[in-house]
Amino acid sequence: MPRKITIKSPATIANLVCGFDILGLALEEPYDLMTLEFSDDYGLKIKHIDEYHLPEKPEDNVAGAALLSLMEAYNKPLGFTLTIDKIIKPGSGLGSSAASAAGGVFAANKLLNNAFTNDELIKFAMNGEKVASGVKHADNITPCLLGGVTLIRSIHPLDVIKLNSPELFITVVHPQIEVKTSDARQILKEEVQLKKAIKQWGNIAGLVAGLMQGDYDLIGRSLEDVIIEPIRSILIPGFDEVKLQCMQAGALGGGISGSGPSIFMLNKNQETALQVEAVMTNIYTRIGIDFKTYVTKLNSKGISIINEEA
Ligand code: HSE
Repeated sequence: MPRKITIKSPATIANLVCGFDILGLALEEPYDLMTLEFSDDYGLKIKHIDEYHLPEKPEDNVAGAALLSLMEAYNKPLGFTLTIDKIIKPGSGLGSSAASAAGGVFAANKLLNNAFTNDELIKFAMNGEKVASGVKHADNITPCLLGGVTLIRSIHPLDVIKLNSPELFITVVHPQIEVKTSDARQILKEEVQLKKAIKQWGNIAGLVAGLMQGDYDLIGRSLEDVIIEPIRSILIPGFDEVKLQCMQAGALGGGISGSGPSIFMLNKNQETALQVEAVMTNIYTRIGIDFKTYVTKLNSKGISIINEEA
């Protein structure tokens, strides 16, 4: 059994436009690097080797809180040292906290010879997400752990499904402004009009069917959000223009990544994904906001091991 493991924990896109809190997908890039090793001292030590000054006290750290709940459930004393090189910028809408939470418990489970099931890992990781956003949601954690596109049919009891999907190229622009998930949740309305709900669940079902059948047109038609996007998009300068021009450039569709501020577009092929990136670059250069773009693929495996030492 390995005593030390290094993993890549990928960025994820939650919601996928119409599926607020229930749909998500994993990206090939960016990803965090995490190394977990057994320690002779019981308990958990966390070290960040990145630029983000995140808390290192385990209870206040997203990966730490997730790992502590796994360690408690293991029922035998454990000692770990976790080193995190965070590359997915916190507050980007690209599942930075989920990558930490899911990565930590995935790595521990490997060192513990797969003592826990995926469902158990998702539940431990959700305790980490709660530290970040104050709410337990799993739409970033699940694709990060399982890869591909995932559906959370229910959190209580946990019922998650990995969906089939055709090949997808994803373009992301991350305007360098911060949108806190907690703020982006607070501005949402508690109630939804029935006619909007009908449109939304038609789109969710259409998106799931489109993914399962590899029907790109149906995927594109279903990427519509009549409930969350009209409220949240106000927080993202240039959002409407980016969306319109990316669609004109050939994107299947897209919208806010998680709670923002990143915007993502799904594309059928890499050529279109690069054209869409050029559109995003032009718009944010003109608006004058710093930004970062990614052109990447759907990551069908989720977290992956890059090194193990006995
Ligand atoms: N589904 C969540 C939200 C994802 O949109 O608030 C945030 O990480």
